[in-house]
Amino acid sequence: MKIHLIKESLLKLGLKDVIYFSQLHSTNKYAKENDIESDNLIITSFQYEGRGRFDRIWESLEDNNLTFSLVKCFTLPAKSVFIMNFYTSYIVLKAIKDIFPEYLQKNFSLKWPNDLLLKNKKFGGILSELVNINEDNKKFIIGVGINVNQREFSSSIVNKATSLRLETGIIFELDDLLFRIIREFYKNIYLLDNPVELIKIWKEDSYLINKEVKFKKTCDNREITGKITDIMNDGGIKIETTDEFNTKNYTVYYTGEISFIY
Ligand code: BTN
Repeated sequence: MKIHLIKESLLKLGLKDVIYFSQLHSTNKYAKENDIESDNLIITSFQYEGRGRFDRIWESLEDNNLTFSLVKCFTLPAKSVFIMNFYTSYIVLKAIKDIFPEYLQKNFSLKWPNDLLLKNKKFGGILSELVNINEDNKKFIIGVGINVNQREFSSSIVNKATSLRLETGIIFELDDLLFRIIREFYKNIYLLDNPVELIKIWKEDSYLINKEVKFKKTCDNREITGKITDIMNDGGIKIETTDEFNTKNYTVYYTGEISFIY
């Protein structure tokens, strides 16, 4: 990456500083351990200990992908903190989709709560961590991982992971992609004050609504089959299941309570 060439332009968008490492364990971990301030961006060309949700490994080949964390403070009531995840996944997808002509944009979708899909395979994910739940001005460390130019993935994820290059044949400029994402992030920030509107537009990109899915509850690991019927205004996902008497039951789950089985 040639961060020094785009740093000035990034600062004009609203960032206060861009901290670049040629390699780093994890940008989220660095931001947490060093108490990095709001509107600072931590970015690396090689993240060698990246983590995703449920502490899963986030693999990323050196110089091929975007792995960064944006630190953002925002005043939100505790009940609305879920919105940062939805906001960032929506924004990152929008920034990338907008590069493509309209007929190709329908190949991109969002998978609850924060996966970015291209042709139904995952090419990106968001890990937004809140570091001060008890304060009014909440501080988020928003980790973004996007598989951009990587063409091979390890055997454990090869069937479900992809990259922009794998699906489109195009080699992308990482700096340009980063600029587009940060620009979109600051341009639409008002949406954070309007969760209902945000969930509405997030749902328009959602891949899961009305789909049958298999999932596990994190508390007991039991495998369940159900149909997603809605994403609620409080960020929950509503799933319909049918019991042995053919009665339909509806349950709303929240981030971290379930994980999907592919
Ligand atoms: C997920 O899909 O589970 C979220 C993946 C988030 C990965 C990003 S890469 C930059 C930042 N640093 C990390 O260690 N993780 C996030």
